[in-house]
Amino acid sequence: MTATPSAEVPRLGQRHQPLARPQPTALTNVETAVRAAYALRGNDRGSLTVAAPGLYPHMWSWDAAFIAIGLARLSIPRALTELETLFSAQWRNGMVPHIVFADGDASYEPGPKRWACGAVSADAPRGRATSGLMQPPVHGIAVRRVLDAARRAGPGELHSAADRIRGLWPGLLAWHRYLAERRDPDHRGLLTIYHGWESGMDNSPRWDVPYSAVVPAKAFVPFRRADVHALDTMDGAAQRPTDGDYARYQWLIEELRQAGYDDARARETLSFLVADVFASAIFAAASAELATVGDELGLPGTDELTGHAERFRRGVASTAGDDGFATDLDLRTGQPLHSQTIAGFAPLLCGGVSPAQHRALVDALFSPDWCGHPGLAVALPPSTSPSSPSFDPARYWRGPQWPPMTWLLIWGLERSGEPEAAAVLRASALDQLSDGVFAEYYHPFTGTPLGGRPQSWTAAVALDLALTD
Ligand code: SER
Repeated sequence: MTATPSAEVPRLGQRHQPLARPQPTALTNVETAVRAAYALRGNDRGSLTVAAPGLYPHMWSWDAAFIAIGLARLSIPRALTELETLFSAQWRNGMVPHIVFADGDASYEPGPKRWACGAVSADAPRGRATSGLMQPPVHGIAVRRVLDAARRAGPGELHSAADRIRGLWPGLLAWHRYLAERRDPDHRGLLTIYHGWESGMDNSPRWDVPYSAVVPAKAFVPFRRADVHALDTMDGAAQRPTDGDYARYQWLIEELRQAGYDDARARETLSFLVADVFASAIFAAASAELATVGDELGLPGTDELTGHAERFRRGVASTAGDDGFATDLDLRTGQPLHSQTIAGFAPLLCGGVSPAQHRALVDALFSPDWCGHPGLAVALPPSTSPSSPSFDPARYWRGPQWPPMTWLLIWGLERSGEPEAAAVLRASALDQLSDGVFAEYYHPFTGTPLGGRPQSWTAAVALDLALTD
């Protein structure tokens, strides 16, 4: 096949051959793993791995969890260091912040001054610069994977990993307690988020309706768009959220700062307040995984974790229709937020739906609306369905394929008794990752790598998938 880097994006519904991807080489799995290890090493700053050079020169919370999963294939102590660094910046109320700022790089906006966490909240950690938001709690899944890797490595590794997990345990329990108590005070079994950034899926169509109610004050002066300049490409702006999106993102930070990053005040005053089914499913799954770790290591709090898992599994399932798709909820209006995004597959991560709903979801995943779309360069789920009117193939969470989301679905399929479906996705994921670029996300129709690179979480999941037996 001839590479066609500037291949036209096919019109929806048009049947055609998959387009050739602009990949100079297709690596074997071992080569992919070696190159991914090299990329992770390059982004390693000692006790934290930056999410990506240039665009994201700091530690991001859910990135760190995926990075730990990848690092567990290389060095169990280093994987644990990643989690320890993140939890060393945990807030006093238990929140794990979505960004831990690394020293010495002031290029990212919003930086510590804009967040001003220490100045307005007694809960912010002293001596550490962080953001005042959270991200989906993948960490419990990472801890489980690290412990499994330690067990495979032998008694010495297991002993020292278990010791360090014991050290992390109070922080992990406090994190999960924070989520259950402060982010679900009504006991719906759904996590409340205060900003699209908390979902990790910043500009997903999931949030279009609630963001339309976010109106920056006239006097508000937005900060500069460092992100579009950090991308080393002419069309970086087309791969990122729009200026309109960013004005709202920045205004919400202002609202949060004015609320002192206090959960009760935020709930009263923020103009964006939604229940996020995908983060809730991750929370349910991570709670269940952590409970198994606690049981194995004889640690306290496992009943509490099992309780979180059950409550949030039920909460996610309560939003699912006959087709199994989970639906976010706008807590400001009480209205469900219907969208055709990858978040709808949330029950595949945590379970809780009926066998018929589960089957419908797995079938949908491989249908022409998702992995079976005839235009895809690689048969992997796009972040937004190509059948959706909101689909935009290059723009961040509005269409591109994101390898860590693929990883989560593979993990969820394996866990829910779908090994064949998981193997199919894994083979496609390795095909995508065999370009050795480890991009932040990929154009679903052309296969072009987009966004930051090498993106640490992409390299991490590549490493893990490539070395899976
Ligand atoms: N994803 C956001 C960014 O693009 C922040 O979490 O910077």
